[in-house]
Amino acid sequence: MKFTTRKKDDAVLDEVVDLSELSIPEHMAVIMDGNGRWAKRRGLPRVAGHKAGAESVSKVVEACGRLGIKFVTLYAFSSENWNRPQREVDSLMGLLEKFLKDKTPQMVNDNVRFRAIGRLDKLPPSVMRELEYAVEVTSGNTGVTMNLALSYGGREEIVDAAKQLMRRCADGELCIDEVDNEVFGSAMYAPDMPDPCLLVRTSGEVRLSNFLLWQLSYAEIVITDTLWPDFRYESLLSALREYSARDRRFGKLL
Ligand code: IPE
Ligand code: IPE
Ligand code: MG
Repeated sequence: MKFTTRKKDDAVLDEVVDLSELSIPEHMAVIMDGNGRWAKRRGLPRVAGHKAGAESVSKVVEACGRLGIKFVTLYAFSSENWNRPQREVDSLMGLLEKFLKDKTPQMVNDNVRFRAIGRLDKLPPSVMRELEYAVEVTSGNTGVTMNLALSYGGREEIVDAAKQLMRRCADGELCIDEVDNEVFGSAMYAPDMPDPCLLVRTSGEVRLSNFLLWQLSYAEIVITDTLWPDFRYESLLSALREYSARDRRFGKLL
């Protein structure tokens, strides 16, 4: 199947994509890294990189919807990012609130379902309100699910899951011997989403940085040197091409 994408941005060429050559992951996870370096290279403050990164988010989610990716989980703010200078944390929270205010109507229109995972109770109340609103008004949408990982840590998620299961055992709802991979997975933040088949990390860093430690156990990993604010449709296609060339064996023989 071929289709043409017409960009709003004149500078970007229309492309003809042969979808039949691409394996489309049901769930793609992305570590959106390199905003600070993008800004530094331009002599701009780091916050300018975060602003430009927010534009990549919209463009990439839109492209995922078009390509038939059902879930995209974007690492936007880690548990460890709380340890950045307060000024940077404040500007990131401000940008997040503005992003949600500006983009929620578009998500409603574009049939995007919005979700968020992480220790969300640590977020400022004004951000929480926008998050809850975005989740609520997009809950009936049937296109791509955009899942933002915020105040998120993979270890924290596993600890939270373990606590939930222990509570259920203490309450007599669950027996210890019933706990297996499936039951444990069902205590994660978004148990209805399948595990990501593909993890993309931008800016050339080769590590997980505490992202989806449970869910990524068999994901294919694609690392690109492209910085997140420069990651657009072409970069997504190139990551998907790399993913499509992988043999996924899951420990078996082909
Ligand atoms: C990713 O960009 C965004 C967040 C972690 C919030 P960075 O801010 O980590 O950018 P670099 O890695 O310093 O370039
Ligand atoms: C990972 O990027 C977190 C997000 C992209 C939100 P970081 O820039 O925080 O990760 P490290 O510090 O390089 O591992
Ligand atoms: Mg970084």
